[in-house]
Amino acid sequence: MKLFDVYPINNINIIKARGSYVWDDEGIQYLDLYGGHAVISIGHTHPHYVQRLTDQLNKVGFYSNSIRIPLQEELADKLGRISGKPDYQLFLCNSGAEANENALKLASFHTGRKTVIAFSKAFHGRTSLAVAATDNPNLVAPVNQTENVVFLPFNNQQALEEYFSANGNQVAAVIIEGIQGVGGINVASEDFLRSIRTCCDKYGAVYIADSIQCGYGRSGKFFSHDWAGVDADIYTMAKGMGNGFPVAGIIISPNIQPKHFMLGTTFGGNHLACAAALAVLEVMESEDLVTNALNMGGYISDALKNITELKNVRGRGLMIGFDVPDEFRELKKNLLWNQKIFTGEAKPNVIRLLPSLALRKQDADQFLESLQEELSLFSTTQNINP
Ligand SMILES: Cc1ncc(COP(=O)(O)O)c(C=O)c1O
Repeated sequence: MKLFDVYPINNINIIKARGSYVWDDEGIQYLDLYGGHAVISIGHTHPHYVQRLTDQLNKVGFYSNSIRIPLQEELADKLGRISGKPDYQLFLCNSGAEANENALKLASFHTGRKTVIAFSKAFHGRTSLAVAATDNPNLVAPVNQTENVVFLPFNNQQALEEYFSANGNQVAAVIIEGIQGVGGINVASEDFLRSIRTCCDKYGAVYIADSIQCGYGRSGKFFSHDWAGVDADIYTMAKGMGNGFPVAGIIISPNIQPKHFMLGTTFGGNHLACAAALAVLEVMESEDLVTNALNMGGYISDALKNITELKNVRGRGLMIGFDVPDEFRELKKNLLWNQKIFTGEAKPNVIRLLPSLALRKQDADQFLESLQEELSLFSTTQNINP
């Protein structure tokens, strides 16, 4: 059987990983500033994480939500405390799309309404309503098309207020990334997030903060939406939550009431998933990784802003993007093949940095030196990749 060929892949076989580094089957070491798409939060194969997962697997790996799972309660307590939302309620699932799907469904149950407001360049996942709220028609199959989702311009307060004043009583939810990831690292302005809060309050709609890529400490606050100083009604999370183990969740404000069977999943919140999520939070706390993300992110961003070849350096904490002018369009590939550094990208010309929150200064310096070297090579020669 062949694999269903949906991913353009790099021909690299990673067989070992530690901290911010991975090694391939030829022993070549790579600096990982991509984290498998913002997933590696505490660093690859962190010893505490490996130990906690191994111990749990030796006890019980899985049982379904038909029984009490105290690890879920422990996770809810810890997540509530560390995220600063102790009175919220936790629902666990398995992936980012599923988290958004549940958040949107819950908002509709709660309000009895159908309209969802999403924004230009948004990415919320590939399943039915999540993909309908994603601003990329190539990802939306005919069966996913719906008139229930309305796209408004990102960061445009006037358009938002006008839409609400004309249609506010039909709006179930507003869903927004605090920092758009796939869209190219676009930071939602604090004023815009505050106006979403105000409109949702005024018209009884649910504010959903998609924190799947920008959350879990990456921005230098637990949720990047927190920078605006107002709370969302639902936060969705995945990626960094399990440091590679598939675990996701939504946290729900106390004013939204649960009812039996309104949400559910077979795998969500299983013992092993909870152990992974707990290990991540324990390491984040003991190593103060949110502060490290803020400091290391600031250090890298400041350095990038001094490199004249790069344009529009932006982001927060360790979620950084910059534009690469056309003459350097091979930069991402050259960083990988020449310098052995993984970075992310966004179309058409953005490099995205999404490293582990435990990135060290020496790792950052290695990247900055390699980047300078690649850029200076461009000015002397036409660089060819393998
Ligand atoms: C902001 C955002 N929301 C949702 C998703 C979907 O997550 P998953 O791929 O785990 O379904 C992603 C994935 O990249 C994302 O970046």
